[in-house]
Amino acid sequence: MPRNRKNRSAAPPAHHGSHPTSRRPGVRPTARRSVAVELTFLPGLAQIASDEASGLLTSGPPRPVPGREDALEISLLGPLADVAALRTAVAAFVVLRFDVPRPKSLTSGDHLQRIVDAMGSSQRVGRSASFRFEAAGSDSAVFARLASLLSEATGLPYDEKNGELVLRVRRGVTAGASGDPGWDVLVRVGPRPLSARPWRVADYPGAVNATIAAAMVQLGGVDPGDRVLNLMCGSGTLLVERLLAGPSAAAVGVDVASEAVAASSANLRAAAVTAQVLQGDALDPVPGSFDLILADPPWGTLHGSHESNAALHAGLLTAAYAAAAPGARLVVLTHEIKIMERAVRDADALWHVREQVRVFAKGHHPRIYVLDRTD
Ligand SMILES: C[S@@+](CC[C@H](N)C(=O)[O-])C[C@H]1O[C@@H](n2cnc3c(N)ncnc32)[C@H](O)[C@@H]1O
Repeated sequence: MPRNRKNRSAAPPAHHGSHPTSRRPGVRPTARRSVAVELTFLPGLAQIASDEASGLLTSGPPRPVPGREDALEISLLGPLADVAALRTAVAAFVVLRFDVPRPKSLTSGDHLQRIVDAMGSSQRVGRSASFRFEAAGSDSAVFARLASLLSEATGLPYDEKNGELVLRVRRGVTAGASGDPGWDVLVRVGPRPLSARPWRVADYPGAVNATIAAAMVQLGGVDPGDRVLNLMCGSGTLLVERLLAGPSAAAVGVDVASEAVAASSANLRAAAVTAQVLQGDALDPVPGSFDLILADPPWGTLHGSHESNAALHAGLLTAAYAAAAPGARLVVLTHEIKIMERAVRDADALWHVREQVRVFAKGHHPRIYVLDRTD
């Protein structure tokens, strides 16, 4: 069991199963209304996203969405704004289910009002300047009519391409009362996906997806006493996500490229967190002793090359060991699975693999390795 990490079974906290709001004798408990919320995440991160949702939100237990490996559903009892705190989810949507045979029926009064209300709830969490549909046939006359009615009711302009508030319209995923799945409208919470971090002011080629970085941080465990080292830190995504997840005793990033040091410094500043960023070779000794070491070595052609990556991965494990305090954890994201497997085998006197998580991101299948220092 990693330090400071909740049990990763998706069991909800004790107060989550029933929903009474009053316990006074003689007063019948009234059920608090829950809101169905769908959380999307990168395939491979289901358990971590589920654990995070269970830990952060007042809700029923996360449930898988039938037929989907990148989504789970919760019955949210707390404020909708709470979903903005999730770091491993890509996006959150309010789910509206309609027992209707076709999207055309969504333009009728009651149905339309439900969509308008959900758009209002999303606006209260984060204001969008416009809206758009993500739906098969969104360029049809039916959707044009729906767009114009929603625009009239909400005052929000419809922007087919760049609309900020996203409304996904899809065939239902579960059978309704009539036996037909009907249609679902999913209204995204906020103008941008949760994975688009406001702190990212400096882009960097090869920057790790922030939800993967947040998952790595959770897998490594968050302890306020940790001295954190991010080797090959690039634009500082792992450092920022670790420092936003909780306090640490110290934080240092190292990268050989001056552009990386500049990008990290800018992103750390924007996130209002502090770390020391050093320019240098991550395989050289780093002054200090660290409890949590994070790294995503270069891959492909952006930084480094396949040929040099065998030496780099082997060197990373040795350098991380030299910088590691007794009991330290090392969390590495790599696309070079064969190279990493070999490096880990060769370094078995230094590090033990505790866990591996395979992630699917934009056609790539990188893997997260969680290693414990052999003491
Ligand atoms: C995949 S990128 C890291 C991306 C970073 N996590 C981010 O989100 O921006 C790999 C980084 O390793 C750095 N790098 C490659 N070889 C290095 C070495 N020997 N020492 C230090 N940094 C190195 C590159 O400059 C690049 O910034």
